[in-house]
Amino acid sequence: MNMETVPWELIQKCVVVLISVSLFWKIIKYMCGLLKVEKEPVTVLVTGAAGQIGYALAPMIARGVMLGPDQPVILHLLDIEPASESLKGVKMELVDAAFPLLKGVVATTDVVEACKDVNVAVMLGGFPRKEGMERKDVMSKNVSIYKAQASALEQHAAEDCKVLVVANPANTNALILKEYAPSIPEKNITCLTRLDHNRALGQISERLSVHVGDVKNVIIWGNHSSTQYPDVNHATVTTNSGNKSVRAAVNDDNWLNNEFISIIQQRGAAIIKARKLSSALSAASAACDHVHDWLLGTPKGTWVSMGVYCDGSYGIQPGLIYSFPVTCENGQWKIVQGLEIDKVSREKMENTAQELIEEKELAKSCLN
Ligand SMILES: NC(=O)c1ccc[n+]([C@@H]2O[C@H](COP(=O)([O-])OP(=O)(O)OC[C@H]3O[C@@H](n4cnc5c(N)ncnc54)[C@H](O)[C@@H]3O)[C@@H](O)[C@H]2O)c1
Repeated sequence: MNMETVPWELIQKCVVVLISVSLFWKIIKYMCGLLKVEKEPVTVLVTGAAGQIGYALAPMIARGVMLGPDQPVILHLLDIEPASESLKGVKMELVDAAFPLLKGVVATTDVVEACKDVNVAVMLGGFPRKEGMERKDVMSKNVSIYKAQASALEQHAAEDCKVLVVANPANTNALILKEYAPSIPEKNITCLTRLDHNRALGQISERLSVHVGDVKNVIIWGNHSSTQYPDVNHATVTTNSGNKSVRAAVNDDNWLNNEFISIIQQRGAAIIKARKLSSALSAASAACDHVHDWLLGTPKGTWVSMGVYCDGSYGIQPGLIYSFPVTCENGQWKIVQGLEIDKVSREKMENTAQELIEEKELAKSCLN
């Protein structure tokens, strides 16, 4: 045997084998693509679906904004009897929009039918505060709504149903829901503070004239109310010269410590003043962001704000639904630990916790 020809033959054979394997792999992938089995639809409940946010949110969910562009969905839309005609109209429009991902729509005023087998529940329905009404009267109406809907979810929703409460008072409504649905894991019940979080990102990006996607890791602590604490102490911005802290980039502590905080705290009122209606498209978009990141994960190195059941992190009284910075992975949120908290922040975090303690007491008194 000619020793010099052996390696050459061997190389030729290896190349042929490699090409064949790669071709074979491509064929297998192509066949899998042809046979691609569509994902099972996820059923999403939207309560208060005939309202403003519902009208903006339903098409976002049906387009895959909430659960991803390849995730089919079934929408369950719930509202109360006086809104039933309007709810029918929403369903008609959803049908007319011919969304490829939308595999079914149930529009109903029956809470049991609405909650049946839902995997995700977005709670927009609630009793709004009307002029001249006492806080306790509004709380009392919402306590009875959330008590009833908690039981319906507990009995009829799918196992591991994830709940997002948007209706105000969002944190305390979520807490009532948690209390009256004891078999739903407390980790599965959250409230929306992502709108405030997004507003904070938006204001910083405007101030620095950078894209909002370049700002990250602001925090909303506490209640979704005017006592919330929008905190930029750990936030960063990506610039041409690398990552910078927001404090350094803004270079105006006076603005960050005062005007910025009150802009975020009062943004809802400013929208009402301008629109003569409360925020709806931004609230719907934030609800999508909240559920999206919860179920599909937060990007590495990024956290978001979520109202979650407090375990005592950062010295906040356990047993409140309080907004914290969280990261999410595999459908689970986790409070970001170990952030340094200065004296000013501590005071503001306590202040908003105090308001939640009072709301909790008020809600309890409505049950008696
Ligand atoms: N957490 C946040 O960031 C945030 C932001 C914006 C708005 N909100 C709150 O979200 C809620 C919805 O806002 P909106 O602008 O869509 O209000 P909306 O008044 O336009 O709609 C509320 C809908 O809820 C329905 N509803 C009332 N009681 C119900 C019940 N028991 N079951 C089912 N549906 C019921 C009403 O009929 C109405 O269609 C409000 O409570 C608002 O204050 C929260």
